[in-house]
Amino acid sequence: MKTNKIGLNENDVVELVDHLNTLLANYQVHYQKLRGCHWNVKGNDFFTLHVKFEELYNNAQLTIDELAERILTLGKSPYSTFADYIKVAKIKEIETENIAADKMVEAILDDFKTLIALEREVIENAAETTNDEGTADMIIGFMKFKEKTSWMLRAWLGTK
Ligand SMILES: [Fe+2]
Repeated sequence: MKTNKIGLNENDVVELVDHLNTLLANYQVHYQKLRGCHWNVKGNDFFTLHVKFEELYNNAQLTIDELAERILTLGKSPYSTFADYIKVAKIKEIETENIAADKMVEAILDDFKTLIALEREVIENAAETTNDEGTADMIIGFMKFKEKTSWMLRAWLGTK
């Protein structure tokens, strides 16, 4: 069996990195959506959501960096162009100029659902196929953050 520099099966790592790059691409589109929401949110909820979206894009930025550097740790290259991100991502870009504040929150919740589903696939692949507990542990942390934040965003939507 051919192993990489940290002792993981090379063929398994190739497949795992494919999953990680897909997650990275989706995260980049999601990140830009959060920035658009931060810039364009209007109305009574401006001060709440302007700050909340900033908090979420800062978190997304850290997550993106961790993901890319995990791929490098596994000996591979993270996608780094917007062309690749747009080609690979399931999450779609949206125009945020004329969207109501609650629709922005719904769009972010939809992205979270997509990202969480992708993360569950990565966790299963990492832990069960590749024996890469380090990647699984990292992704579980990302997933738990979005699961909890989803609850809070839904609670906020319940007030509308
Ligand atoms: Fe800002």
